[in-house]
Amino acid sequence: MADRFSLPAGAVVADQYRARVRDAQHDPEAFWLAQAGRLAWHTPPSAASRSYFTGDVQISWYADGQLNVSENCLDRHVLTQPDKAALIWEGQEKGQREVLTYRDLHARVCRLANVLRRLGVRKGERVAIHLPAVAEGVVAMLACARIGAIHVVLFGGFSAEGLAERIQDSSAGVVITADVARRGAKLIPSKTTMDKALALCASGGSVRHVLVVSVSGVDVPMQEGRDLSYEAEVAQEEADCTPEVMNACDPLFLLYTSGSTGRPKGVVHSSGGYLVWAGLTHELAFDAQPDDIFWCTADTSWITGHTYVVYGPLVNGATVLIYEGLPSWPEPGQWWDVIDRNKVTVFYTSPTVVRAAMREDEAVVRARSLASLRVLGTVGEPISPEAWTWFSEEVGRGQCPVVDTWWQTESGGVLITACAGQVPGRPGAAGLPLPGVEIALLGTQGHTTVDGEGEGLLCLSRSWPGQAMTLWQDHDRFRQTYFSTCPGYYFTGDGARREKDGYIWITGRVDDVVNVSGHRIGTAEIEDAVATDPEVVESAAVGIPHDLKGQGLVVYVVAREEGRLDPARVARAVGEGVGRYAVPEKIYIVKDLPKTRSGKIVRRLLRKIAADELDNLGDLSTLSDPECVQALIRQVAEQN
Ligand code: WTA
Repeated sequence: MADRFSLPAGAVVADQYRARVRDAQHDPEAFWLAQAGRLAWHTPPSAASRSYFTGDVQISWYADGQLNVSENCLDRHVLTQPDKAALIWEGQEKGQREVLTYRDLHARVCRLANVLRRLGVRKGERVAIHLPAVAEGVVAMLACARIGAIHVVLFGGFSAEGLAERIQDSSAGVVITADVARRGAKLIPSKTTMDKALALCASGGSVRHVLVVSVSGVDVPMQEGRDLSYEAEVAQEEADCTPEVMNACDPLFLLYTSGSTGRPKGVVHSSGGYLVWAGLTHELAFDAQPDDIFWCTADTSWITGHTYVVYGPLVNGATVLIYEGLPSWPEPGQWWDVIDRNKVTVFYTSPTVVRAAMREDEAVVRARSLASLRVLGTVGEPISPEAWTWFSEEVGRGQCPVVDTWWQTESGGVLITACAGQVPGRPGAAGLPLPGVEIALLGTQGHTTVDGEGEGLLCLSRSWPGQAMTLWQDHDRFRQTYFSTCPGYYFTGDGARREKDGYIWITGRVDDVVNVSGHRIGTAEIEDAVATDPEVVESAAVGIPHDLKGQGLVVYVVAREEGRLDPARVARAVGEGVGRYAVPEKIYIVKDLPKTRSGKIVRRLLRKIAADELDNLGDLSTLSDPECVQALIRQVAEQN
């Protein structure tokens, strides 16, 4: 048991790190309460955690503390460093660049906060934000935080149906969207997709107003009385706005993510604990320095964007960069130019981006200076030792630590990494749990722990400040999803292996979640979308290894009648039901799916067949019809 809490003897880490781990272990309550000192409180908390993982499960941090998140991210810094750049925005068109100082950002946030208040948004109400990579995305999140509204940021790649589902579930009162989103040569019609989504919401839904940011200035239909020009509205407001004093456990935001079953889950994050975690992990993982230009390439609609584009760097008073454009449009090397132009010091991206860059001519990256870089990081999926080494050598020029950060929407911020400057990186391994993070590996039944070296289900045995409090209006699902597999632990859904000296390797999801280019996709969502086709009897979606995307989606579909089902139509159903990003690589129309005698689809087999790993199909004797496997292999081969 002991090594669950302490650093294994073999780990070579900085003294300061070791001391932190020791302090956290010795007296967690005192350690975490001291961390609350990172923030400015209206009422400082008198206690850290009142969380427990058993019974009805409670996640509660700094419960009697009171604060405002936007004040912590803005007003504090306006007092001490008003002219420091808070946000550098670069558009995808040449020369589009804007620098917002802390004073500027504060003013913009206040103006929008005043608009939202005028539109009747009250503390606790939900505001949906559906914007591309523009500065207003950050402004909108902080404006919600200022007035205590709960933001729900929605991905630009969701279909109208995907948007509608999330808007209805959260019953948002106001939506902030854009005329269009630019993606290379394409214009994505954000506003008209949102109009479709709102039309899908039952009897008009909860949305009273839609604020429309003008990104390209194209004309879009505006519904009288409901739709308002963002620019016209903010122009009417004062650049100051009294912040709402919030309790630490009031929700700051909810963010939808996918799980192994059913509809997307609205993960609810707190105001106090989350912000402590965002600030602490930004500092620890990236060895944050005051003069950093911090570039996290994630979209703000994912948790990575929430924590490391917005809250972590801003609560620490750093300078963040947002770039609207793609890595390789109009030609390869755009992102390296962004780094050089802006003297980016920390570059945090995804393994997918690294793999894509590796495929380009080496001359592209070598033609750039990249001398400003100090720390590199990745997140979202495992990074192979080859990609890690390429990133380190070619982008970091052998001079920058590479931090592979493992965490999830539910964790609020990084849980496992090799903190820059403190813990040596190891290609392919995520690293060590952060100080105070108590990892446990459990046996597959969820009842025994694997101590020392070994492999198991990746769990946490104790809460941490960034932990999600619940699922939106569904605490029971929260309890079921995360605390029932391994009683007494938080179960992450991932498997992991621990080396002798404590380094953790993530082995991937052990549930029915597929990770496509870092997008977490529940196979159940895909199957639900496929089922909307009346010609479909049943289907099964699985993930297979993919060179570029990490994993790719493959769907097996059983058709009602031979010859009547078109794979392209099935793909369209997924695009419409979930979003473009989830459209499968391949759709196989098959006669039957392999099932156990109790009727459960054997996904393990489907994965192997789709990945063409036919040598070792494992034990087939539990199948209700073992014959079906050969037929399946034949049908798949015919369609390849
Ligand atoms: C996976 C993204 C390996 C993992 C922050 C996790 C990773 C899920 C890593 C969460 C990593 C994330 N190495 N796998 N460094 N980071 N994952 O909620 O399966 O979008 O459970 O959060 O991505 O995805 P989410």
